[in-house]
Amino acid sequence: MKNILFLTFGVLWLFVGPSSGELAPLEKSYKILVLIPVSSWSHRQVILPIVEALADRGHQVVVLSKFPPSTLHPNIHELTVRNSIYEEKINFFEVRKHPLLFLATFRADLAATAKQLYNDTHVLDLYAMRKEFDLVMVDALFNEAMYPFAEDLPFITISTVGHDYQQSAVMGNVMNPAYVPTELWDFARPWKIHDKVFNILAHFFNALVWRYWVVPAIQEEVTLHLPDIRPLLYTERNASLTFLNSHYSIDLPLPLLPSQVQIGAIHCKSPKPLNKELTSWIEGAGDEGVIYVSLGSMAQGNTMPIQYRDLFVAAFARLSRRVIWKYEGSVPGVSENVLIRRWLPQQDILAHPKVKVFLSHGGLLSLQESIYHVTPIVALPIFGDQERVSAHLHNKGFGRWLQWEDLSVDLLLQAIYDVSNNTRYLNNVRVASRLMREQPTSPKELAVFWSEYIIKHKGAPHLRSPAMDLTWLEFFLVDALVFMVLVGGLTYALLQNILKRIKLDYGKMKAD
Ligand SMILES: *[C@@H]1O[C@H](CO)[C@@H](O)[C@H](O)[C@H]1NC(C)=O
Ligand SMILES: *[C@@H]1O[C@H](CO)[C@@H](O)[C@H](O)[C@H]1NC(C)=O
Ligand SMILES: *[C@@H]1O[C@H](CO)[C@@H](O)[C@H](O)[C@H]1NC(C)=O
Repeated sequence: MKNILFLTFGVLWLFVGPSSGELAPLEKSYKILVLIPVSSWSHRQVILPIVEALADRGHQVVVLSKFPPSTLHPNIHELTVRNSIYEEKINFFEVRKHPLLFLATFRADLAATAKQLYNDTHVLDLYAMRKEFDLVMVDALFNEAMYPFAEDLPFITISTVGHDYQQSAVMGNVMNPAYVPTELWDFARPWKIHDKVFNILAHFFNALVWRYWVVPAIQEEVTLHLPDIRPLLYTERNASLTFLNSHYSIDLPLPLLPSQVQIGAIHCKSPKPLNKELTSWIEGAGDEGVIYVSLGSMAQGNTMPIQYRDLFVAAFARLSRRVIWKYEGSVPGVSENVLIRRWLPQQDILAHPKVKVFLSHGGLLSLQESIYHVTPIVALPIFGDQERVSAHLHNKGFGRWLQWEDLSVDLLLQAIYDVSNNTRYLNNVRVASRLMREQPTSPKELAVFWSEYIIKHKGAPHLRSPAMDLTWLEFFLVDALVFMVLVGGLTYALLQNILKRIKLDYGKMKAD
């Protein structure tokens, strides 16, 4: 059945035709399995362009995801697998200052999701035929339950959150906490001593909690259904390569392995024309331009605490500019200069020259889109990596970083005016945008090149860092240090002994 599907898609593809830029002609069409059943909408935004690029190139891609199919591409076959992850309606505003509660919620959710996934015939059927694929790709965050699919197959992980020190360590690239933040927190630079101490502790805390508390809960559920699988963390360590949703132009430049490939901002694209309503709203805004407001796809409007919603309403009423606000639900008392919609074409709006400031939750994708389309930011991080991204954009001078707890109408207005009046932010963003676009190969081409490379070279074991085969004691050279101390001590003791004897003999000689 699957083979017939592939054949049909393959024939269709002959008519659609391949469309890739600088890559060498296609040698062979491969079958690629992309597993993202536990990915949020924003993770999916990063992964779908990779899938599209592979499909455009002529490969057959099967995607297992939580969302309904979103493309008619003949080479892409999307399987939807229902699961209740994210449906428990976590109030992200409530958990924002409680990382343990946040982790505990995810632990319970991820284990329950693993249980649901392996009780689903789509998933089990796909698992049974997994060896037909030439390559498996898995979203590196939250999709641990899918690692059994990758056993004994060439396998790529996708870090949609960009550089992640834990995931980097899995690849054998251990980052230095003197300057590399965790996924969750960064600080104004230069870091103060308490920032450094916090960062070191966070490096240990996050990794230990994840490895010894969250993943075992997932492992338990998966093993119930597939008793013969290897430990999930063992399979994870055998990944051939990682695609990082980061780029040195806007993220921290870090030492990377050849198996860590940056495809940051792969989802950013040239704007499409806006609809009539948005065009006339933006063009009619006068020279002062428009403020675009969106808190992303995870924290929905109706979970926004009323005091903050009212504060936004009061601030926008005093703002001498037009506002476009992505908000799910109705907002009472909103002033006439504010246009509210449930869904908005964010990139197309940000690309409009009259859109002067993006009031954002500091999501990584929002940051990338904002830089790509040259709009400075006022960030109000809610949860997860948004605090890190907001601190980073503050350090880079891409905009302002505020905290909900400090927020007042005056502070919000002052930040919006500061970012829109002060050309420093716009200039920084403009320079970064040029740097981000100035690449020898597009992120999509990189993704295609490295995927084919991993298949052709059977998992490319030559890319594997030797660090992956070391224990922690070996990695920190404890064995060698102990050896050196022992040899040094022994030599010292021996020399002491000899000297003592010489002295004694000399003393005796003199006495004689
Ligand atoms: C597993 O699937 C069966 C049949 O589809 C269903 O009755 C059962 O409730 C499911 N169990 C879980 C834990 O989802
Ligand atoms: C920014 O400019 C507006 C007018 O465009 C002015 O009302 C406001 O005071 C200025 N704010 C700052 C902080 O410069
Ligand atoms: C590890 O990866 C290599 C190369 O892709 C593969 O040949 C091998 O079977 C994998 N081992 C496990 C245990 O998955």
